[in-house]
Amino acid sequence: MAEQLLGKTTSFEQVSNAADFIRNRLKIKDNAPAARVSVILGSGLGAFAQEVMEKSKSQLIPYHEIPHFPTSSIEGHNSCLVYGFIGETPVLLMQGRVHRYEGYSANKVAFPICVLQALGVKSVILTNAAGAIGDHLDVGDLMLIKDHINMTGDNPLLGPNDLRMGPRFFDMSEAYSKSLRELAEKVATSQKAPLKEGIYVGVLGPCYETPAEIRMFKTMGADAVGMSTVLETISARHGGMDVLGISCLTNKAAGLSQGSLNHQEVTEIATKVSKRFSNLLFGIIPEIAHRYEHQK
Ligand code: HPA
Repeated sequence: MAEQLLGKTTSFEQVSNAADFIRNRLKIKDNAPAARVSVILGSGLGAFAQEVMEKSKSQLIPYHEIPHFPTSSIEGHNSCLVYGFIGETPVLLMQGRVHRYEGYSANKVAFPICVLQALGVKSVILTNAAGAIGDHLDVGDLMLIKDHINMTGDNPLLGPNDLRMGPRFFDMSEAYSKSLRELAEKVATSQKAPLKEGIYVGVLGPCYETPAEIRMFKTMGADAVGMSTVLETISARHGGMDVLGISCLTNKAAGLSQGSLNHQEVTEIATKVSKRFSNLLFGIIPEIAHRYEHQK
């Protein structure tokens, strides 16, 4: 019934298949966690994965080789899973993601999150490029996501719920972990690169917004707008993972500055910010992983 209404939905078996494939490739035995921390890298932010690969012995798995894994067609997204280390800390990095606007269902967009959960990940860092709405935000800023507004009109959990993956109904009052945000603030301050904070509104895309839509989002309390993240956050919370969200503000949202928006500008600014962004992640990740050490 649900399949007829909504198209094929992610099954626990598909998620397990993908996770088993990855564990085999990485030679991780006995269902041990592959990593406790994972990062999904947004448009133009892939340089962090590059740096991890240069600094540690890492392995790379193209998404198209992983069973059931969706692959992106968007420029600026590399479509590879990277397994590397920051010091002693293993990390799983997703270089690129798929979006709802590519035609994938919300359920498929969140599939990689379910796979990360099956691989033992407890904290996921979701990053994205976003347009700045809040007056306190400038192009080039990094913004910690305090909360989100899901304006995609969609949800990855539509359809029957599999209790092995999470509960039917669950709380979203702290979708973005307060303690992870405090940790990120602390690291950023020590690096003398303080972060901004705000509310992210997730839209469907692929077109950028109209100035009237941006005015509406501002009235609703949004500080930044983008076409990803919210569906992944919902799925991560369903699976009981902690989420840290970081937006790289690549442009003023529509109508808030002169000129028109384009994807090239978005990736160029994200690339410029990527060093600061990398430093931040190199600081944060070992500290998060430290929290799970007793659970090895
Ligand atoms: N709107 C939506 N998505 C975006 C934007 C924007 O202004 N900038 C980067 N991603």
